[in-house]
Amino acid sequence: MIQPFERKKICLLTWGCQMNEYDSELVRSILKKEDYEFVKDERQADIVMLNTCAIREHAHRKVYGRVHSIRHERGKRNPVMIGILGCMATNLRQDLLEDRSLKIDFIAGPDSYKRLPQLIREACDEGQKSYDVTLSEFETYSDVYPSRKEGVNAWIAVMRGCNNFCTFCVVPYTRGRERSRSPENVVDEVKRLAAEGFKQVTLLGQNVNSYRYEDHDFAYLMDEVSKVEGIERIRFTSPHPKDFPDRFLELMAANPKICKHIHLPLQAGNDRVLDMMNRTYTKQEFLSLVDKIRAKIPEIVLTTDIIVGFPTETDQEFDDTLEVVQKVQFDSAFMFKYSERQGTIASKKHPDDVPEAVKTERIVRLNEIQKDITARKNQAHIGQVHEILIEPPAGDKPDAHMVGRTDGNKLVLLKEDSPLEKRKVVFFKIGDMAKVRIIDATPHVLKAIPV
Ligand code: 5AD
Ligand code: SF4
Repeated sequence: MIQPFERKKICLLTWGCQMNEYDSELVRSILKKEDYEFVKDERQADIVMLNTCAIREHAHRKVYGRVHSIRHERGKRNPVMIGILGCMATNLRQDLLEDRSLKIDFIAGPDSYKRLPQLIREACDEGQKSYDVTLSEFETYSDVYPSRKEGVNAWIAVMRGCNNFCTFCVVPYTRGRERSRSPENVVDEVKRLAAEGFKQVTLLGQNVNSYRYEDHDFAYLMDEVSKVEGIERIRFTSPHPKDFPDRFLELMAANPKICKHIHLPLQAGNDRVLDMMNRTYTKQEFLSLVDKIRAKIPEIVLTTDIIVGFPTETDQEFDDTLEVVQKVQFDSAFMFKYSERQGTIASKKHPDDVPEAVKTERIVRLNEIQKDITARKNQAHIGQVHEILIEPPAGDKPDAHMVGRTDGNKLVLLKEDSPLEKRKVVFFKIGDMAKVRIIDATPHVLKAIPV
């Protein structure tokens, strides 16, 4: 008897940054067209794909751990194909293919997702290990419409890759050179998103404000996207401090749809360290940029990334980072211990010589200072009225609080303690812009009632 065709089931696990989440949406779209089915539970899958991150040691170890635990759980009687996608694929292709204990079946780098159907067929049907980690100068996936989860925000990659070569960073090697999609192509996708009911778009890129297509820069693109009806808010991440022309800041200030939040990675506050990192700005230039941004957009919310313990960084040099943090008063900060990455300029030129205990001590000090600043910044909102965009609640508990975000991207929890508050909150739907009054604040979240 002929067996009915059974669709192969794929479980796709994603680590790392927003670009990786977005790439997983591209991969889902590419493979759904080939009649693969996606499942959440890896135990039900014929193929498990791990979309990986190589940016820090931590992310890297987690992926190795997960591959081993999948192999162990499934054992010999219930085998599964395993594929590695994303940044680790490019960076570690040799190790992955040679490590017999890992038993990887196929590998696809960030520019090779259109070849996935073929790679999977070669691995499944012909039993051969297959891989493609070629980096492209042109691939932007502008012809693939991502298979997105429902919600209010859609991510949309407008450029890929990085030309900056910060010496600590593996991204230029794993994701290749910068390339941008045409403004028309981006705007068409945003129109389609608006028609589907998305209220917010977040433009994504490794250096999103270095976007350039022919004569068009990032300010032009943002302006064009903001003309799309139905989209209420536009965000972008992550920019590089080197690309903030006045024209762009003036557009941000004047355009009500562009959210007043900039994630502005500092990385370090000392000139010698910044130079070794190849960040292309000094402490003073960074501070002047912050002053310029605040002069043009007084209500701006600024967040940042900081690395502690870059090779040879001394305690006095780290104090410069603390000084910048105190001076700028970021609304929040992501903090990382320097982690040596294979292939980077820093890994070739400078031994990772700051002891782990010193890195820990620095990150603890930094964290304490920033926690106070964040708490104070959040408390300053108490009593203010904000318009928040209501999002699907985090987690799937039926009694989860309604949540939303301010224009500056702060998470707001709607309190519904009194019967009156409950009645008002009931009227809000996901995707609504709701006016609320902030009544309480912690370093992580604002609490509000409807007005
Ligand atoms: N070690 C520690 N942090 C790093 N980042 C990038 N590369 C490294 C590294 N090798 C951090 C930077 C960047 C963020 C995404 O990750 O702060 O902005
Ligand atoms: Fe990495 Fe620097 Fe490029 Fe950001 S700008 S992706 S930190 S090399």
